[in-house]
Amino acid sequence: MATLTLRYMQIVDIPQVVVIDNVSFDPAWSARSYAYEISESSYSHMVVLERTVEQPTPGWRRFFKNISGQREVRRQVVAYGGLWHISGEGHISTIATHPDWRGHGFGEIVLAGMVRRALTLDAEYVVLEVRVSNTIAQKLYQKYEFKTAAVKPRYYRNNNEDAYDMRLDLTDEAIIARFDQRFDHIKARHSFNDLYTDVKSTKKR
Ligand SMILES: CC(C)(COP(=O)(O)OP(=O)(O)OC[C@H]1O[C@@H](n2cnc3c(N)ncnc32)[C@H](O)[C@@H]1OP(=O)(O)O)[C@@H](O)C(=O)NCCC(=O)NCCS
Repeated sequence: MATLTLRYMQIVDIPQVVVIDNVSFDPAWSARSYAYEISESSYSHMVVLERTVEQPTPGWRRFFKNISGQREVRRQVVAYGGLWHISGEGHISTIATHPDWRGHGFGEIVLAGMVRRALTLDAEYVVLEVRVSNTIAQKLYQKYEFKTAAVKPRYYRNNNEDAYDMRLDLTDEAIIARFDQRFDHIKARHSFNDLYTDVKSTKKR
């Protein structure tokens, strides 16, 4: 039986996050950047979605595990994201799902988790940049009512691609009501543990 947990990213997660980042982005962030975001930046609220599965223990080892009550568990970061909160603005700095787990609703949990976190931090809007060619990510953002506010010409240095600046207005009560409904819906669908959206980071601010 698998359990999903949405929680703050920790230093121990970095190797798994970097693997996902490397297959998702060009250029990718370095492990050092993640360490900075997790431990140093006072603006940053990095998040992971972790999938935990109890592993079957074979043969005689199972007997001893049963007596001691120990269980072997496999923990996997299936998706992650980054949110900066700077004076009223929530800025989504990154979001990705492990390629093996795309299409399972995990990116949506991470996005909705960051929007909910921005709301609990009293952000007035959430903004992000997305490549004009990245229609999959745009669909996800549109589902959450992000609107294209501007085009940033040649924003991406590796190929000079333009970015859409997409924004979600968190001062509009109707938008927040619909967001709350969607959040309740994905909580009911995936029943994940939420240790992020309403939890203060332990970092000094
Ligand atoms: C964008 C990304 C995070 C989506 O993650 P995911 O876990 O696969 O997405 P989900 O399964 O949660 O899908 C949520 C929504 O995204 C959109 N979506 C996801 N996959 C899609 C696809 N193949 N085609 C069209 N829309 C898609 C849909 O709106 C979907 O909602 P629906 O299921 O009700 O149709 C993932 O594709 C990814 O990691 N891409 C590479 C990194 C990246 O581009 N990040 C964004 C940078 S701006």
